[in-house]
Amino acid sequence: MTKVSTETLTIALTKGRILKETLPLLAAAGIEPLEDIGKSRKLIFPTTVAGVQLLVQRGVDVPTYVKFGAADMGISGKDMLMEDGADSLYEPLDLEIAGCQLMTAAVVGSTRPPGRFKVATKYVNVAKQYYAAQGRQVDIIKLYGGMELAPIMNMADEIVDIVDTGNTLKANGLEPREFIADISSRLIVNKASMKMKHAKIQQVIDAIGKAVEAKRKA
Ligand code: PRP
Repeated sequence: MTKVSTETLTIALTKGRILKETLPLLAAAGIEPLEDIGKSRKLIFPTTVAGVQLLVQRGVDVPTYVKFGAADMGISGKDMLMEDGADSLYEPLDLEIAGCQLMTAAVVGSTRPPGRFKVATKYVNVAKQYYAAQGRQVDIIKLYGGMELAPIMNMADEIVDIVDTGNTLKANGLEPREFIADISSRLIVNKASMKMKHAKIQQVIDAIGKAVEAKRKA
């Protein structure tokens, strides 16, 4: 376990679309990076709140940093938490941003082959659990992105991926099939940090919670 510093509060953020929706929430909670994250190659950013710093990472790594205590808190897609196992983290807030659905998808009009079939996904654990619960036998092919290519190139019969507008599926001749879960971004907290920096962390949770509520009512 990485030593948890009592001095600084570190919040790990997911870059990309989630970051764009996260920054206004943090700003409403009074936490703003001192420089424009979008224009920098840096990965650590001090903020307007003394002793609070932000890390900017790929979504898949955020739960890991928070689990190890390298970050005290994080903002992570529920899809990452479902895949990674969130048992060792607290998940105090649904931030109601970056909403999408975890779905299965296949080539438009295609039928599933009898018996075992192939599923390409970066959500290996989620897919295994989902198909097992349906009593279906599948071979999982692990990919890291661009899953839509796999059925087109006949490498897989289905994919498991997040669907937002559905444009990517459509543009590649695929269609959504089965709903697995509603996804949004969540605030996560390291369990040891929650004990050692309770007052500071609770303050941040409350401030972000109020920002989420204000946005919902707006
Ligand atoms: C995600 C996801 C789909 C797409 C869905 O990909 O994997 O490809 O967004 O969005 P849509 O329904 O609005 O088209 P992302 O851009 O995050 O890149 P990735 O393929 O590397 O995961």
